[in-house]
Amino acid sequence: MPEKITDLIEHRSGEQYELHTDYINPVFVKMLKTIGFDKNYIRGEGCYLWDTQGNKYLDLLTGWGVFMLGRNHPKIRAILKDLLDAESPNLVRMECSLLSGLAAEALVRHTPEGLSRVFFTNSGAESVETAIKFARANTGRSRIIYCDHAFHGLTTGALAINGANFFRERFGPLLPDTQAIPFNDIAALEQALAKKDVAAFILEPIQGKTCELVGDGYLAEAQRLCNRAGTLLVIDEVQSGLGRTGKWFCFQHWPEVEPDIICTAKGLSGGFVPVGAVITRPRIMDSVFNSLERCVVHSNTFGQNDLAMAAALGSIRVIEEEKLVENAAELGQYTIARLTEISKTCPFVTEVRGKGLMFGIDFARPKESLKLKLAWDTLHKLNFGVFGQMIIIPLLNKHHILTQVAGYHTEVIKFLPPLVATRADMDWFLTAMEDVLADTQRVPGTAWNTVFSLAKNAVTA
Ligand SMILES: Cc1ncc(COP(=O)(O)O)c(C=O)c1O
Repeated sequence: MPEKITDLIEHRSGEQYELHTDYINPVFVKMLKTIGFDKNYIRGEGCYLWDTQGNKYLDLLTGWGVFMLGRNHPKIRAILKDLLDAESPNLVRMECSLLSGLAAEALVRHTPEGLSRVFFTNSGAESVETAIKFARANTGRSRIIYCDHAFHGLTTGALAINGANFFRERFGPLLPDTQAIPFNDIAALEQALAKKDVAAFILEPIQGKTCELVGDGYLAEAQRLCNRAGTLLVIDEVQSGLGRTGKWFCFQHWPEVEPDIICTAKGLSGGFVPVGAVITRPRIMDSVFNSLERCVVHSNTFGQNDLAMAAALGSIRVIEEEKLVENAAELGQYTIARLTEISKTCPFVTEVRGKGLMFGIDFARPKESLKLKLAWDTLHKLNFGVFGQMIIIPLLNKHHILTQVAGYHTEVIKFLPPLVATRADMDWFLTAMEDVLADTQRVPGTAWNTVFSLAKNAVTA
């Protein structure tokens, strides 16, 4: 094996799909090959990826939201290199590290005043698991309310509050005492809280699987109802946080809202080192760690490691210095408005929705045009979830834009551009969308032929 990792990568480049077939997940490889996503990317910088042929791709998937600052941000790379060179002691454990203190201090600069304590995690799901435990310990209750279509991660606790059966099937029994309510439905929440036996109500202010945003006034009312019922309001900002929607945290679009617990992760990593954080009130934290004996009753081995803390500190600094929250707000408004206009010409689009640089396009059976209705019905009889491939396949192969369908059994394509994207990047995307949406109306045509053959393959595979 070559000594240098870069030599190893060069030496074995192109073998990844074989290796994954043999050692990791052959079914995933098969899926990628079926839709023509089995590229060999060799470089990433900012909003772009390059493959071996020198093709440049615009990345609107951003590693499921991790590359908020783009790939290989020079400032974060420099911070991490400096830290490695400094030979920091790291994870001594029976001490308090400076970097985690500084990262916590930096993070709470952007939360409401009452939320000033931080627990660092290694992922979004771990942040959610932590929130569940904190809420149970604090309230002495076990019940957790969540929303239909919610996604909070795939560990068994987080799965127990997942709003889609697809993810839960065959993994049970899961955490008991959880209950789903419709998203954005205050009456349903009021009813669910009536017995005053609920530890926490957890929700994403904008749902990752649907791009549905809470209505104006919803969160403030949810907070009032939770306070009245002695329930903690947990806002999962793992995907929507750190500037993505045009505020540091999405709930801050409604200044009167102050949750009890915020979950975050993804972009905090700068795309380099996994890190998440749970931010809460001192009295909630103190109720968990409530004696010397219980001072690490909730903990994790790698939490607060120096590389993760440096990545978090660097990410917060870059978001502040480069005014990325403001960019997400402005660019998001521009893109969503133009995409809405463009979509009016496509009878399959029901809605363009989202906030800042987290938005999606929802497709459904067209109301008019017999020909299009027939094509839709025939495809859906063969396979429910393939229509979205008609958008993402040409986006990648013809326009070199990387995206993904938002979730299983949904007709929503979600876009998560890096917060460092420019108007030129978004114009690249909008021009491509105009073309791809026009193609959906050509029946028969290449786009339909592709998805019909995919659907048939899926049925016979
Ligand atoms: C809102 C939300 N919560 C939690 C998670 C889980 O995060 P992770 O995959 O880092 O465990 C995700 C992941 O997509 C998410 O979008």
